[in-house]
Amino acid sequence: MIGSRKDDHVRLAVEQLHGKDASNEFDDVTFVHHALAGIDRSDVSLRTTFGGIHWRTPLYINAMTGGSAGTGRINRDLAIAARETGVAVATGSLSAYLADESVADTYRVMREENPDGFIMANINATTSVDNARRAIDLLRADALQIHLNVIQETVMPEGDRSFSAWFRQIERITAAVDIPVIVKEVGFGLSRETVLSLRQVGVAAADVGGRGGTNFAIIENGRRDTADYSFLDGWGQSTAACLLDCGRIPDIPVLASGGIRHPLDIVRSLALGAAAVGASGRLLGTLVEQGPAALVARISTWLDQLAAVMTVLGARTPAECAHCDVLITGNLRSFCEARGID
Ligand code: FNR
Repeated sequence: MIGSRKDDHVRLAVEQLHGKDASNEFDDVTFVHHALAGIDRSDVSLRTTFGGIHWRTPLYINAMTGGSAGTGRINRDLAIAARETGVAVATGSLSAYLADESVADTYRVMREENPDGFIMANINATTSVDNARRAIDLLRADALQIHLNVIQETVMPEGDRSFSAWFRQIERITAAVDIPVIVKEVGFGLSRETVLSLRQVGVAAADVGGRGGTNFAIIENGRRDTADYSFLDGWGQSTAACLLDCGRIPDIPVLASGGIRHPLDIVRSLALGAAAVGASGRLLGTLVEQGPAALVARISTWLDQLAAVMTVLGARTPAECAHCDVLITGNLRSFCEARGID
């Protein structure tokens, strides 16, 4: 049952890449061109450090899958691509494993293929502390991701309907485990208020996981026969809006994911204050439609082009991108005005 849901998610997420307009609110973020700002490519380093975590690049492959034979093969290929390109990678939700150990290999393969890489284990906010530890142990995980997905659960026919215990459970898990905890949304965004709450309980970083890319309201609506919730398809804040909303919150680094289409969106995210940038749907589409070698090539090209744009902007590190001049226009500007962000 869980396994076939995971297969559905992959199929519908890849279909979604073709079905919808590729524009999103990152298009409302433009760099002011300073023709003399450029530096030397050899002075650019992609290394990033946040919340006690050190990565060779600010790009990471965000949580997707596991739990069935087909998604196990996807996890193997994602882990190989991460190993070949030096990016961090997350598993999909380990709830399938926590309910049924027979699917362990579909996740464990990520560590087997990428023994020295940075791997994040992904769980939901109802997971017990013991199960969080089992998830970490299975992957020998370097960080733990806890996903928040109230809209997805609500639209999912078999989804959860009780959310009030989530915050305290995040607090318990964060206190109990000895690796950094990253809390993420799955495409509806984290508000400033939510990130401030996460900071209170010691979460190492918040991944805003905003609107603009893979849309789980549409995916779950696609799996329903009756009582369609398509009125929720546009719910949530875009990734760019979340980053602006969370600007200058001390003591909790913010990561960007949701709707990353190309290296320019990575640089835009860094310019809006993200310490690192995750991509899922686009990378999955490349893997499923063009194969593992194409995925490695795409990630390598993105990293090379990211460094090229940073060279033009005069940003020697991902953190220095936050000093670049950007213009905010369109719907994103209206969002900032409505939220009182200057
Ligand atoms: C996801 N995502 C996800 N997130 C999570 O925390 N746990 C999970 O198990 C999954 N599963 C999953 C399956 C598939 C097929 C996709 C495409 C995505 C959400 C993912 O991590 C990310 O937050 C969103 O997909 C938004 O990013 P993109 O796809 O727009 O880059």
